[in-house]
Amino acid sequence: MNVGIKGFGAYAPSKVIDNAYFESFLDTSDEWISKMTGIKERRWAADDEDTSDMAYEASVKAIEDAGIQAEDIDMIMVATSTGDYPFPTVANMLQERLGTKKVATMDQLAACSGFMYAMINAKQFIQSGDYHNILVVGADKLSKITDLSDRSTAVLFGDGAGAAVIGEVSEGHGILSYELGSDGSGGKYLYQDQETHKIVMNGREVFKFAVRIMGEASTKAVEKAGLTADDIDMFVPHQANIRIMESARLRLGIPEEKMSVSVDQFGNTSAASIPLSIAQELENGKIQDGDTLVLVGFGGSLTWGAITLKWGK
Ligand code: UT7
Repeated sequence: MNVGIKGFGAYAPSKVIDNAYFESFLDTSDEWISKMTGIKERRWAADDEDTSDMAYEASVKAIEDAGIQAEDIDMIMVATSTGDYPFPTVANMLQERLGTKKVATMDQLAACSGFMYAMINAKQFIQSGDYHNILVVGADKLSKITDLSDRSTAVLFGDGAGAAVIGEVSEGHGILSYELGSDGSGGKYLYQDQETHKIVMNGREVFKFAVRIMGEASTKAVEKAGLTADDIDMFVPHQANIRIMESARLRLGIPEEKMSVSVDQFGNTSAASIPLSIAQELENGKIQDGDTLVLVGFGGSLTWGAITLKWGK
């Protein structure tokens, strides 16, 4: 059975925060942020707009794009580190708001690799034959857990959501291979503080890890699919830092024009980052039916996940 993306949608909040904003209260500059991260601006959700609201907006688009109705969804998985509450889950909240049947729902926590983990989890349920249309969402409101007094993290993060309906797709489409992993010993380098509830990061350690793992995980996924770098039409890395993305691209041997870059507009949106980037490429007509994509994420805990897939249904 070919399992892939039957419908797709993404959502970014309208409030744009440029780099100059941080200059007013932090010892930083647009020049430093642009040069060291590639970020020019990011979107922040409004105070009354939470993760479930962004997830809902992306989900409505994905369901419409799949040409199905909410009642055709038979499971909901949301990858997020910033759910509105620990429970009810964002997936729970979507079940009610979308008006699906009373289907199974779960949030999954693999930080910035979350969308990769959820897609692969959904794939197993579809392949079992028990489920047919699984709504997979990556949504994060990082602005609510960002420490605005810490210049090394405050400038990096943004908010957004992306959604995909995962199900059976036709020959020549769908997920070809994947590689998932984690290394708990690195949890201390990137975590949410239990007292302040803010993100704490050792940027240098995460940077070193990311440079190694992005290249390794995507190379393994490409090999497992029996492909080479020449077969890749679009490389979509987690949008954390342009320097990390560049080094992964070079390791894989993929030309610059085949790497999706949206970090300049959205910053690091964790579980939403890969789908937001895909949405941008779709909008620009840079992803076509049958194209071979490599998606790769890494994040807190530390986790990683890479997927190769043939785009389309
Ligand atoms: O989704 C995964 C989440 N995280 C990431 O992917 C982040 C991975 N790490 C990074 O992207 C990079 O480590 C950073 C962009 C956060 C920092 O870049 P770096 O090359 O690792 O720099 P550094 O942390 O070693 O800092 C270099 C200098 C330091 O000053 P001193 O000690 O040399 O005087 C920092 O204090 O840059 C300083 N610095 C800043 N300066 C201006 C750190 N943040 C800022 C800032 N503005 N915003």
